[in-house]
Amino acid sequence: MNYQELQQHLKNNQYTWLITGIAGFIGSNLLETLLKLNQKVVGLDNFVTGHRHNLERAVEDAGLNPNNCDLFTFIEGDICDIDTCHKACTGVDYVLHEAALGSVPRSIEDPITTNQNNTDGYLNMLVAARDAKVKRFVYAASSSTYGDHPDLPKEEDKIGNPLSPYAVTKYVNELYAKVFARTYGFKTIGLRYFNIFGKRQDPEGAYAAVIPKWVASLVHKEDVYINGDGETSRDFCYIDNTVQMNLLAATTENPDAVDQVYNVALNDRTSLNDLFKFIQDRIRDRIPELEEVQPLYRDFRAGDVRHSLASIDKAITLLEYAPSHRISEGLDEAMDWYVSNLGS
Ligand SMILES: NC(=O)c1ccc[n+]([C@@H]2O[C@H](COP(=O)([O-])OP(=O)(O)OC[C@H]3O[C@@H](n4cnc5c(N)ncnc54)[C@H](O)[C@@H]3O)[C@@H](O)[C@H]2O)c1
Repeated sequence: MNYQELQQHLKNNQYTWLITGIAGFIGSNLLETLLKLNQKVVGLDNFVTGHRHNLERAVEDAGLNPNNCDLFTFIEGDICDIDTCHKACTGVDYVLHEAALGSVPRSIEDPITTNQNNTDGYLNMLVAARDAKVKRFVYAASSSTYGDHPDLPKEEDKIGNPLSPYAVTKYVNELYAKVFARTYGFKTIGLRYFNIFGKRQDPEGAYAAVIPKWVASLVHKEDVYINGDGETSRDFCYIDNTVQMNLLAATTENPDAVDQVYNVALNDRTSLNDLFKFIQDRIRDRIPELEEVQPLYRDFRAGDVRHSLASIDKAITLLEYAPSHRISEGLDEAMDWYVSNLGS
């Protein structure tokens, strides 16, 4: 089934989905899409980096009332507690596991907390989903798993050494998934997200991702910093493509497609210098009174890879992935959202 056919199928057939990390950026976008498709959603989050207002906005953006939404049940809780995981998985068809502590620098500063959430919490979810006999467990893996492997574009079966504690945790997730397939016949798919961006991605805090952070700085007339010379490149991927990959992965009936990991990206590389220009031009189109500014350059950041570009052939072949947004289309939509949601 391609994505269009899948959306039609879901509109006609209701399933129950568990989204962990639902109050975060990717989780809340998954919630919005699934509600639009008339699916039942159970959400789990402890608000460590997510926000209650993301849940409300996602339900509203799906055209529903956040104070009275029969399709959505929220559990405030922690994936580090196995009982909570068991409770959340009860009666669920598909699990989309997003809850984790993101950010390479955060993991370098505090590897223990990152490991507790991303490895112990992940294992709890895997066990609970296995015990509940869910149809599929889709989990957020990461492009950081490529580590120091030099090849571009990145192909799923060629990985190097991890460069940060965060990368270790995400690789361990993949190892556990493989072992659960072999040992218990439990069906999973890992999604190695590259740099995902779009609405509701948090611009605040020391560990904010580059796009929302720069947008907020430009809108608020604060300095914008580029780590390194700006020629570092990334394969930036719009949130709608990411949501599509999650739904395709959860429901695929292609036996060759399961117990696999996939890149979630565009196969399109953008340098930080170009990204800054794209963002600044788009914001100035929307807020013409903003003056043009130059970014400030500072040291490279520890643990960062220099270039990142994904092959998406595997996802196209096995999951019928068809990205709906190139980077410029994604940036246009994201900037519209940020400019109307970030008070100047
Ligand atoms: N955004 C990206 O570009 C990107 C890239 C690679 C991987 N990922 C992975 O994708 C997933 C989602 O990322 P995001 O960008 O939406 O991040 P986010 O921080 O916006 O969302 C993560 C959510 O998980 C919740 N959470 C964290 N630990 C939890 C715990 N112990 N129990 C319950 N809830 C918990 C947080 O409160 C938050 O709502 C993460 O696993 C992240 O590592 C994201």
